[in-house]
Order: sequence, then C-alpha cells, then structure tokens
Amino acid sequence: MPVQIGAPTHNFTDPTGLLTDCHRRVEMFPGTLETVADVIDRPATEETRRGLESALRYFAQAAPKHTADEEESLFPRLRQIHDPEIESAFSKLDHLEDEHRWAAPLHAEVDRLGAQYLLTGCLSSPDVDDFRKAVASLASMYKQHISVEDSLVFPLAARMLSDVEKMAIAEEMARRRQVRVVTEISTGRK
Ligand SMILES: [Fe+2]
Ligand SMILES: [Fe+2]
Repeated sequence: MPVQIGAPTHNFTDPTGLLTDCHRRVEMFPGTLETVADVIDRPATEETRRGLESALRYFAQAAPKHTADEEESLFPRLRQIHDPEIESAFSKLDHLEDEHRWAAPLHAEVDRLGAQYLLTGCLSSPDVDDFRKAVASLASMYKQHISVEDSLVFPLAARMLSDVEKMAIAEEMARRRQVRVVTEISTGRK
C-alpha cells in the first residue's frame, strides 16, 4: 500500500524520501504565514483567514510528527552507526535539534497572535510587529534547516542505513500517523 505523506512522490519503502516530501509541505506553510504577515495590519479577509488557519493547523498537528520522525526515529539510528562520515555529521544533527527547540517559542508566539487575529479580526501595532518578526525568523530558519537536511542528512541516511532500519523508521512514521504499512523490502544492510 503506497501511503504518502506530503507530496505524492515517495512511499514507506523510502522513509528519507517521505521526509523530503514532508519538507515540501513545511516549505509551503512559512510562505503562507509570510503572506498573512503582509496583511495582518488590516481586517482579515476570508482568504487570509483560511490561509492562517491551515498554516496554524499544520504547524500544530503535522509538523511535530515530522520533528519526531527526525529526532526519535532517524537521528538516533544515524548516531548508532560508527562511520567517520556520519560522525562528522553529528555536529549538524545536534544543530538541527537545537533549531527544532529554538523554533518552539516562535511557533507559540505565531499561534497566540494568529488565534487572536482570527478571533478579533485585528491586532495591535506591537502585536503586528511581533507576528511579522516571528514569521520572518521562522521562514529564514526553515529555509536553511531544510536545505541541510535535504542535501546532507537524508542522502547520508539513505546510503548508510540498512533496509531493516529503514523499515523500522517507516513503521514508526506510519504509527505516528495511524496508518498501516504494508510493504515488502529486502533485509540486510545496503
Ligand atoms: Fe529538522
Ligand atoms: Fe526536517
């Protein structure tokens, strides 16, 4: 059963491909927030409301699953491989996890102000500034964070993890999304 997360490109036989697909969605929503930030000093239109609601929902519900895929399933398995190439990437992994932590209060700020805007239809001038600053910081962080994961970490994982490890990651990803993986992949390290 080819179950996709995000863009319909990869399935559970290729968990790092799935994580890349997730990134295409992660990239989309900061863009939505930036569009909202441009007009958040004005009364909300229906289109702005819809965009804001979908972005807030994505970051509240789907993005934490992606972070867990990386921090609980992928990174720990990479750290278990004793290979100079992986070991030299460890500092990058540490930094990526730091960025996940760093983003949390910014998301909380965007969430709080976004919910207030949806409720009342307007924000005070300082709140508009805070919303814009938080969105700009998140958008810039995601851009370079995703680039490191897509260009360095995921290709490394695709090369170095065994099929058994990939299958275990895929199953954990599926469990987080309450879908069942029915797939066959061969066993043994690539
Ligand atoms: Fe990440
Ligand atoms: Fe990621």
